[in-house]
Amino acid sequence: MRIVSGIQPTGSLHLGNLLGAILRWVEMQEEAEASRFFFLADLHAITVDTDPAALRDNVYDMTAALLASGVDPDRSVLFAHSDVPAHAELQWMLGCIARMGWLSRMTQFKAKSGKNREKASVGLYSYPVLQAADVMLYQATHVPVGEDQKQHIELARDIADAFNHRVGEELFTAPAPYIGTGRAARVMSLRDASNKMSKSDPSDMSRINLIDDDDTIRTKIKKARTDPEPLPDTLDALDERPEARNLVGIMAAVTGRSEDAVLADHAGQGFGAFKPALADALVARLAPIRDRLEALRGDRAHLDSVLDAGAAKAREAAQPTLEKAYRALGLRR
Ligand code: TYM
Repeated sequence: MRIVSGIQPTGSLHLGNLLGAILRWVEMQEEAEASRFFFLADLHAITVDTDPAALRDNVYDMTAALLASGVDPDRSVLFAHSDVPAHAELQWMLGCIARMGWLSRMTQFKAKSGKNREKASVGLYSYPVLQAADVMLYQATHVPVGEDQKQHIELARDIADAFNHRVGEELFTAPAPYIGTGRAARVMSLRDASNKMSKSDPSDMSRINLIDDDDTIRTKIKKARTDPEPLPDTLDALDERPEARNLVGIMAAVTGRSEDAVLADHAGQGFGAFKPALADALVARLAPIRDRLEALRGDRAHLDSVLDAGAAKAREAAQPTLEKAYRALGLRR
């Protein structure tokens, strides 16, 4: 098993990132036979206008957030991908393999570029190719991500297959998305359950951030949109109630239970009773992570040493595959 995944260092970590990806990275550290590469996708962050000083701060803050969540640099290689030039180098080669038509189907580009597609950066359009390079460089077999990244990882599979076909050898492993079960794979906005919880949502009330204090978490859950019905005793009965479904799913994910088990405990309760229980569960899960984050984020020397050591290991791991790719295409003498 080679486990590879990344996160953009924009803003702070939210509950969707944590449940959809980061806590699953942490769980996968228990796999003794696996190697693991987790990175801050800072090259992705510049596909849109980004303030350079803020980006640098965000890389530190996100590194602290990952460490606080349990990513362990002794068991996982943790680095910023701009420190490993092989990502950008392989990206160029893969960009000559991937087809315009494949990229034009990417729903995230359509959503992020909006109506003004002609004004979007070339990097925003082609960044799924960089994402393919990110995982292929380490011959990833498993890419733990939330549901929203599935399409990009499937594209990476197509790119790996097309590269192998072009050079006539099985140089790259086709990576597979590794998506969690239940609501953790797709945590929805607290204000509108038809949208995913996201750092780009203008309303901070739509998401729980790792840096939110206990009172803020309680207020956000109290104000989360719901309906007046009590909770049912079967999951099917939540099909037409997306807000209720989202909160039950969050409760299940933060307490490590199935959604059915949550309903077994809370069936018949209205949200006046369920929401405080959910807020308590969130505070119990998030407060210790937040406290560790606060302690770590000021210690830049420590964060630098973690990122420097990770980058050195990642450069070493990536180099043989990068060289093989150059040679297979007829480059390098
Ligand atoms: P990013 O930074 O948007 O999100 C990081 C991880 O969090 C997951 N996630 C969610 N999961 C469940 N519910 C949500 N509401 C939610 N919001 C975010 C994402 O699925 C992701 O797993 N392009 C990637 C970063 C990246 C990457 C890679 C990922 C760059 N290279 C290579 C995997 C492999 C991104 O923007 O994720």
